[in-house]
Amino acid sequence: MEKIIDENKQGEALVLDQKAGNTRKLFIESYGCQMNFSDSEIVASILANQGYNTTQNLEDADLVLVNTCSIRDKAEQTVRKRLEKYNAVKRSHNPKMKVGVLGCMAERLKTQFLEEEKIVDLVVGPDAYKDLPNLLEEVDEGHNAINVILSKEETYGDISPVRLNSNGVSAFVSITRGCDNMCTFCVVPFTRGRERSRDPQSIIEEINDLWNKGFKEVTLLGQNVDSYLWYGGGLKKDFDKANDMQKATSVNFAALLDMCAKTQPKMRFRFSTSNPQDFTMDVIETMAKHQNICNYIHLPVQSGSNRILKEMNRQHTREEYFELIDNIKKLIPDCAISQDMISGFPTETEEDHQDTLSLMEYVKYDFGFMFAYSERPGTLAERKMEDDVPETTKKRRLQEIIELQQKHSLYRTQQHVGKIEEVLIEKHSKRSEAHWSGRNSQNTVVVFPKGDYKPGDFVNVKITECTSTTLIGEPVGYSENN
Ligand code: SAH
Ligand code: F3S
Repeated sequence: MEKIIDENKQGEALVLDQKAGNTRKLFIESYGCQMNFSDSEIVASILANQGYNTTQNLEDADLVLVNTCSIRDKAEQTVRKRLEKYNAVKRSHNPKMKVGVLGCMAERLKTQFLEEEKIVDLVVGPDAYKDLPNLLEEVDEGHNAINVILSKEETYGDISPVRLNSNGVSAFVSITRGCDNMCTFCVVPFTRGRERSRDPQSIIEEINDLWNKGFKEVTLLGQNVDSYLWYGGGLKKDFDKANDMQKATSVNFAALLDMCAKTQPKMRFRFSTSNPQDFTMDVIETMAKHQNICNYIHLPVQSGSNRILKEMNRQHTREEYFELIDNIKKLIPDCAISQDMISGFPTETEEDHQDTLSLMEYVKYDFGFMFAYSERPGTLAERKMEDDVPETTKKRRLQEIIELQQKHSLYRTQQHVGKIEEVLIEKHSKRSEAHWSGRNSQNTVVVFPKGDYKPGDFVNVKITECTSTTLIGEPVGYSENN
């Protein structure tokens, strides 16, 4: 890994990111969604100005930060286990180590964390990272410190992230924060606050900077990217109160995508996550217009049953979802689509579950992220509904969903065999040192012999074989995008 990084421009950038003169060591790790990984890069940037460089070694760390996820109970249990590990290292090797909890669990549990987990010195919610310098001063003085205030404006648009564990090829750029959707099962609106969009100018500047550092692919991030709306700042829900000038010069998601694709025509763009209720035709048209916007949409649906969709407060029906899928495939026939699905939401019957399976049969998703329902404290579902589907039933339904997805994934990967596809090389293949691993436009992993190519190259690859998750091929030359 070290070696590849040395071979490309980002290797130098990574070294430069370690600020000269910094003497303190930060160990930072992230759990959960891509936004958390992206937020940790913002935190590392803020702390680089406070004398901290990152380390991969817990035993050396002056400060350990864990960026946490609350989406399901299991995610929280994983973080609790990590805290035990930090505790063991602190006791055996590193008594001066300070420990901070960031992200959604910090926001959800607040001071409770300091009471329950004696190892924790610092608790910081997702909108309060700019307060870290003050909070760390308190910690240095031997006190516990906490800031979990949610913001209506904070987008960290003015902070240039330090790229952590980067392959130097692909990066995340966040464009919105928070979520206003209030799906009844979901804790995110409570932990990440109201939805707000980031100034497009600062997004474009970050993208240009990434290009200059050698990056070739950017994924635009938000809980719900399709509802991106910039009109000079402010909450999404207050747009109606904006003046005529603000409305006339506003930028929606399709316009932002168009801007990105035109500003860096050789860079690939992806985005995540889309919400069916906010996905508009102009986004599909913009994708179809630009070759450098990848043909892949992560379009969570959660359930195929109209009754359950309603109980979940998802603002669309199964029929409207099919219409959206048809429109996507009409304009972009080879567009890959992936799902998130939840089994065993309260009151889900066998018939509802069959609706989920039949929806999957219609779409035949390329990939999927599938979960058993996990009741989250404070959500509407927890307050108003009984978690009444037995665990064994949830698990059995989940297994059926996973098996069907595996069948569809294989069906989709098989469609690529025999074609020549453009792949952006990211890293060594896990299975062999002699192969590169990258992704095609549809986000499927492609593995092929290295030849003289290197990470960051766009290569045309003839696909010869596949599994349900990976395409295997032979390189046939550089693509014209190089
Ligand atoms: N819009 C978000 C979705 C966040 S949560 C995004 O950017 O990804 C990711 C997925 O976790 C959801 O789509 C849903 O399928 C799953 N999920 C959320 N809350 C859940 C819960 N209480 N139980 C099980 N799965 C859940
Ligand atoms: Fe959660 Fe629904 Fe928003 S899944 S992140 S409340 S779109």
